[in-house]
Amino acid sequence: MTGGNTQMMMNPIDEFAPVEALDHLTGTCQQLRHLFGRANTALEREKLFLARQLHDDFAQKLTALSIELTLLDHTFGAGDPVETSAEAVRQRLRNLSGVVAGLIKSTRKLTTELRPKVLDEFGLVAGLQWQAQEFSSRTGIKCEFISESDDLAIDPQRSTEIFRILQEILLNVARHSKANRVRIDLSTQAGSLFVRVQDDGCGISEEDISSPESLGLAEIRERTCLLGGELKIDGVPSDGTLVAIEIPIISISAGPAPRQQN
Ligand SMILES: Nc1ncnc2c1ncn2[C@@H]1O[C@H](COP(=O)(O)OP(=O)(O)OP(=O)(O)O)[C@@H](O)[C@H]1O
Ligand SMILES: [Mg+2]
Repeated sequence: MTGGNTQMMMNPIDEFAPVEALDHLTGTCQQLRHLFGRANTALEREKLFLARQLHDDFAQKLTALSIELTLLDHTFGAGDPVETSAEAVRQRLRNLSGVVAGLIKSTRKLTTELRPKVLDEFGLVAGLQWQAQEFSSRTGIKCEFISESDDLAIDPQRSTEIFRILQEILLNVARHSKANRVRIDLSTQAGSLFVRVQDDGCGISEEDISSPESLGLAEIRERTCLLGGELKIDGVPSDGTLVAIEIPIISISAGPAPRQQN
C-alpha cells in the first residue's frame, strides 16, 4: 500500500503530545471540580432561600394567625359586650381569613418557584411558554415564544432538564445581553427537538464561549450532553447571541414492545 491516506482514527487525547494531553486532562478535572462546587453552591442557595421564605414569610404569617386566635379567645373570655358584638367578631374573622389567604398565596408562590406546576400539568411547551412570560414580566425584555406544536410527549425528566437549560439561557440574557427582545423557537424534526434562543443584545464573545471559567455555559453544555444532544452558541458583536440546542426526543408513549406470550 502506498502511504497516501494511512491516518488512523484518533481520539481527542491522541491528538496531543503527552504534556498537552496532561494539561488537557488537568483542565477538564478542574472544570469538573468547579462544576461540582457550583452544583453544591446552588443547592446551598436553594436551602437558604427555603429557610428565608419559611422564616420571613410563613413563620410571620403563622405568628399573626396565632395572635389573632389568642385575641379571639381573650375577647370571648372577657365577655365584653362591645368586643363580642357580631360586628366585632366578624371583623376578627375577616382578619383571620386575610392571614389564611396570605398563607395560601405564599404556599402557591413557593411551590411554583421550586417547580412550576404548569410543567407537570400541561407539559413542556406550556412550561417553556410560561417561563418566557415570567421572564418578560420580570425583566421588561420583550419575549416572543414560537412553537410548532402545542404538545410534545417528552418524558418528565427530559422536560425538566430542558426547562432548566432555558432558565439558565434566559438568566444570561437578563444579566449580560442588554437586549430589548428575545425570541424563543421550538421545533421538531427527524426525532429531534430544537430550541433556539436569539437575543438582540451585545453579543457573546468567542472568549466567553470557549472560556473554561464560563461555568453557566458549561452547565448548559453538560445538561445538553447528558440528554444526548448538541449545543451551539454564536455571538455577533452588537447584534445579539444565539443559543441553539438539539435534543433527541424519547417519546413517553414509546415503551418497550409487549412480550409475546406463547
Ligand atoms: N446572552 C448573552 N449575551 C452576552 N453575553 C453573554 C450572554 N450569555 C453569556 N454571556 C457572557 O458569557 C459569560 C459566561 O456566561 P456564564 O453563564 O458561563 O457565566 P455567568 O453568567 O457570568 O455566571 P454564572 O456562573 O452565574 O452563570 C458571561 O459572563 C457573559 O459575559
Ligand atoms: Mg450564567
